[in-house]
Amino acid sequence: MSSKAKFSYNSSEVELEMGVGTMDEKYVDFSQFRSQTNGVISLDPGYKNTGSCESEITFLDGEKGILMYRGYPIEQLAEKSNFVEVMYLLLKGELPTADQLAAFNDDIKEYDMVSEDVTKILSAFPSSAHPMGVLSTLTSALTAFNPKAVNAKSPEDMHRAAVTLIGKFAVLASWTLRKMKGLPLNYPDSKLDFVENFYQMMFKRPNRDFEMDPIVINALDKLLILHADHEQNCSTSTVRLVGSAHTGLFASISAGVSALWGPLHGGANQAVVEMLDKIKEDGGDVQKWVNKAKDRNDEFRLMGFGHRVYKNFDPRAKIIKTAADQVLDKLGVHDESLEIAKKLERAALEDDYFVERKLYPNVDFYSGLIYRAFGIPTEMFTVMFAVGRLPGWISQWIEMRQNNEPIGRPRQIYTGHPKRDFVDISDR
Ligand code: CMC
Repeated sequence: MSSKAKFSYNSSEVELEMGVGTMDEKYVDFSQFRSQTNGVISLDPGYKNTGSCESEITFLDGEKGILMYRGYPIEQLAEKSNFVEVMYLLLKGELPTADQLAAFNDDIKEYDMVSEDVTKILSAFPSSAHPMGVLSTLTSALTAFNPKAVNAKSPEDMHRAAVTLIGKFAVLASWTLRKMKGLPLNYPDSKLDFVENFYQMMFKRPNRDFEMDPIVINALDKLLILHADHEQNCSTSTVRLVGSAHTGLFASISAGVSALWGPLHGGANQAVVEMLDKIKEDGGDVQKWVNKAKDRNDEFRLMGFGHRVYKNFDPRAKIIKTAADQVLDKLGVHDESLEIAKKLERAALEDDYFVERKLYPNVDFYSGLIYRAFGIPTEMFTVMFAVGRLPGWISQWIEMRQNNEPIGRPRQIYTGHPKRDFVDISDR
């Protein structure tokens, strides 16, 4: 499509190029707007209406509740694929052949040893440290232990950097749990596949045999797939923005981990379970909490509800809700909070406040209940999200560098003091 949008300003008219994406998303190109208008900028706090890049990785339609990685619907990937295959798909753009998948698995295992010196950094943390803070620090520290310069334009270099990070990140993530629990660290076992390995590193005790429940491994695999990418969300935009200064991959991902930590983003999965527990302890009156969430004078928000982009059911939440029912049932876990979550969802979806604002359960509403059924501590939930999101972050970082994107540097409208003269301290 080649059409133009017109903008009238001070009796002059500016023509702006329009374009369209693969799925018919239309846009106006504002990149030359400031020079065309002699200094006028677009102001859009929170980037509610601003596309920061063109991307071939993930498509989502928030009105229709559609999510696709590289063109494949999330429902099909969650049902038929596995996390390692999805990582390959995100990174390379195509589903792997059996040989390519085996080689990819081998490459991740080849690079999954973390320098023993990293454990000294880990041991300096108090066991009360939040695992996301620890994970962000250790991820950044990896740069020091892998100092070889990486050419972002070289597919070989980027492949090596990606598999190195994927292998080591799972180890570091598992160590944040071991640290919190005061348990000895575990190391990767090359006989296991990626998700089994990660699970074993988190939970295996040195003095006990360890058995893995396939129900748990399958559900974990599915959760990781559902979190693997979500286009230009807060943490991914952070990763791209930091990387746009040509900062290295590991440091950019570390910044992404910090962004994900926030309760309005990935930290919501921890906040949801804490909220459900509070409602339970308070007697389980969900309507009272729905009313609190609607009250403008109350800071409380219904955690796990609402989304910047989805104005319909988050397709990931639908899959996770069904999985939560099945997994808890198969494991014979009765979690009263699941019943409260369902009641809360029903009450909110029937309430005009939530209907009018198109607020639906998001990916974080039910995921924490599954993690808890697996014995994963609440503080670790966002770490689980980070392990899932890692391939998305890496793919987006690589795409940004390969597309030669300019350094990210928004403008502002200054609302501070006009010019004034310095006053000497004795005259203030
Ligand atoms: N509970 C009560 N009211 C809400 C909620 C909520 N969870 N979410 C949005 N609203 C209201 C909000 O007060 C506003 O009302 P009004 O128009 O009267 O001022 C309206 O809905 C629009 O909200 P907004 O804050 O302008 O929307 P946003 O796009 O800036 O924020 C959000 C999106 C996800 C930060 C927000 O919905 C929220 O805080 N949700 C709870 C936290 C959460 O679950 N986060 C996880 C998001 S999904 C996973 C991820 O990104 O990692």
